Amino acid sequence: MESVPSNTPEIASAYNRWAGTYDSDPNKTREMAAAALRQSGLELAGREVIEIGCGTGYNTQWLAEQAARIFALDFSAGMLRRAKTRVPALNVCFIEHDIRAAWPLPDAGGDVAIVMLVLEHIEDLDAIFAEAARTLRPGGEFFVCELHPTRQLSGRQAEFTDTETGEQVRVPAYLHDISEFINAGLRVGFELVHLGELRDPPALQTDLPRVLTLHLRKQKR
Ligand SMILES: C[S@@+](CC[C@H](N)C(=O)[O-])C[C@H]1O[C@@H](n2cnc3c(N)ncnc32)[C@H](O)[C@@H]1O
Repeated sequence: MESVPSNTPEIASAYNRWAGTYDSDPNKTREMAAAALRQSGLELAGREVIEIGCGTGYNTQWLAEQAARIFALDFSAGMLRRAKTRVPALNVCFIEHDIRAAWPLPDAGGDVAIVMLVLEHIEDLDAIFAEAARTLRPGGEFFVCELHPTRQLSGRQAEFTDTETGEQVRVPAYLHDISEFINAGLRVGFELVHLGELRDPPALQTDLPRVLTLHLRKQKR
């Protein structure tokens, strides 16, 4: 069993507490990320998809309708419970797993890997990109969609109100520059297909982007 950093319980238990209201809390970032995935142009029909940090299955449900098979990983038992209720589809396999440890998936079996609003909770991006490169086939695609780092610099991060205690909980987060994401991908053999920086409408250049997207492809050689 591989060891993982010791802050696992704090982040996982924060999401366990958030699970009950995650879907009903107003959350423009979650909505914008979901729209970005749907507009990404990823080829999903007939494909095997790996979704890491699937949460309550907000996007898993849509993925299950598009793709042949989904492996959906998350380390919060509470979030996964909601996901399993929401997505009873037989082509989805939910796995409780800390994605900082080696993913319980074979080499080169996946066509598409997807991570949405998760990597702010991960200190070492290299480990995640290395696992994406290992588990995707050559030519496989990796779609990364995260809170934009400039938004984090302005003080934003994943947070919620615990409805039982009234406490405002800020989930521990790490700041990653855009170059860190790109270089972590390049180091393990991805090429950049597209980079997006999405703003709230009317998308004035003077506003901070809300969401960062990276569409990467694993090189064939
Ligand atoms: C903000 S939610 C996003 C959920 C979903 N991707 C979405 O877009 O609605 C972040 C999710 O990442 C999961 N997560 C964070 N760190 C993780 C880790 N190290 N291993 C597995 N899951 C993790 C949390 O449990 C949570 O479900």
